[in-house]
Amino acid sequence: MNSATTKAVTSGPLSAGQRVAMHYFVAAMVLFFAQILFGMISGMQYIMPDLFYNQLDFNVTRMVHINAMVVWLLFGFIGSIYWLVEDEAGTDLVAAKLAMINFWILTAAVTVVVLVYLFVQIGPGELKSIWLINEGREYIEAPRWADIGIVFCVLVFFYNVAATFMKGRWSGISGVLVLDLVALAGLYLAGMYFTPNISVDQHWWWWVIHLWVEATWEVLVGCVMAWGLIKTLGASRKIVTTWLYIEVAMMFGSGILGLGHHYFWIGTPEYWLTIGGFFSALEPIPLVAMVVHAVYDSGRHGFKSSNHPALAWLIAHAFGNFFGAGVWGFMHTLPQINLYTHGTQWTSSHGHLAFFGAYATINIAMIYMALQRVRGNVWMSAGLADNGWKWKWSLGLLNGGMLGMTMALLIAGYDQSFIERALEGSTWSGYFLAQQSVWFLQAMHWRVVFGLMMTFGIVLLFWDMLTIGRTETRPIQVLSPAPG
Ligand code: HEM
Ligand code: HEM
Ligand SMILES: [Fe+2]
Repeated sequence: MNSATTKAVTSGPLSAGQRVAMHYFVAAMVLFFAQILFGMISGMQYIMPDLFYNQLDFNVTRMVHINAMVVWLLFGFIGSIYWLVEDEAGTDLVAAKLAMINFWILTAAVTVVVLVYLFVQIGPGELKSIWLINEGREYIEAPRWADIGIVFCVLVFFYNVAATFMKGRWSGISGVLVLDLVALAGLYLAGMYFTPNISVDQHWWWWVIHLWVEATWEVLVGCVMAWGLIKTLGASRKIVTTWLYIEVAMMFGSGILGLGHHYFWIGTPEYWLTIGGFFSALEPIPLVAMVVHAVYDSGRHGFKSSNHPALAWLIAHAFGNFFGAGVWGFMHTLPQINLYTHGTQWTSSHGHLAFFGAYATINIAMIYMALQRVRGNVWMSAGLADNGWKWKWSLGLLNGGMLGMTMALLIAGYDQSFIERALEGSTWSGYFLAQQSVWFLQAMHWRVVFGLMMTFGIVLLFWDMLTIGRTETRPIQVLSPAPG
């Protein structure tokens, strides 16, 4: 079906765009580690409530945990796009120096924001604190000065990407990508709007959170996946682009009004119960399409690839997205069910599997693709010097740990829905009763056990990333696309 041609091992310097991408990838991995570290502390605080009490409180560790996640995933996306833009456009990045300066400004701003979170943990909540310390919106707590800086940096990034495609050539993938970036960046503005009315505030805050993860981020990773399948498997561009269009149409078709599943209980009009329930129930459909797409292409090429770790993480992405977002999201998206599960550990179970399964995975895949080039386009499949044990074990420990944690949280969520909501009728005493149940308490311990497993996984992942392919001399097999 597909013919394989061999290319020489290359050790030439990286292109300008690739160098910028590597900076973003390294910063992303440092923040990934911070995410896991602060996740472990938050998890420990559930079972040892006095841990770091008044020094590093749960509200701060949790905030750093999830903000580090959002930022590292965004850094990973920006890195991925810088990595693929020159290849896809067939020309050099238009403003490489600007991109590098931009990277350092953004990274410095993120560092200052985190230091302020850690050093100014308590104080009055006034307009000044919104500007300087914390905006108080979950996931995007960064103060307003940083918000404005982020908007500026994203504009520079957008200019670089769009202008590079304009200078070079356009494709189906790049067209979708650039339009999606407009929506992704534009939505961030909705999270900067301040109002003392909590319902109105939540209404707009969800525009960022939901329309990011269930619309614009999904489309972005769809583009990255399309490019990744062409590169790792030699998949046909015509086929992946067709899938991309179908997925994008379905994703926006269901994801935009699916927003309503967050408007059930925040004081918005009642018609959202119907709209949100109906459209969000359709959201898993494009995710099924994504799995079919990845498995179809992998099967068609007999899983033949010169980069097994990247391919494995791309497949982990397809399944992680389907189960974490599609199945775990669908479970609690109908208002009749959400009435019982809302805001319990069930939500956290879904949140973990979805963010990890859909977004952490594909960033790791892209980093492995970049590393192959960094190591000189060497072979990174069967018969590696260390037998590939490091990448295989880190893949297993990270995914296995995440699955275990998800199940523990799901059990805790069942416990809360049943005891607190169904039996006790959502009373204050029911809230505590549920959390004293043995099922809940055990689940909180299991979360830490599986968290530890993930911690080993991430250490091994870094070790592998630093070493894979270093001693390899066999060249990459460049797979030419299969016909049709
Ligand atoms: C990769 C895509 C997705 C990610 C990363 C994601 C992540 C999350 C997170 C983190 C939350 C908790 C938000 C909070 O702090 O309150 C949440 C809530 C929710 N998600 Fe998703 N989600 C995704 C896709 C989906 C899909 C496809 C559905 C439906 C089919 C869905 C249904 C829900 C519902 C109903 C809630 C509200 C839970 C509650 O009432 O407490 N999600 N999601
Ligand atoms: C060592 C591994 C980890 C541990 C121990 C851990 C622990 C925690 C804890 C204790 C919370 C607070 C939950 C609450 O408020 O009840 C949390 C929230 C969260 N974590 Fe993790 N976490 C880990 C890894 C991850 C990873 C890898 C991701 C995604 C890539 C992630 C995504 C999230 C999200 C989205 C939330 C907010 C959930 C919500 O509001 O429903 N965590 N985590
Ligand atoms: Fe949502």
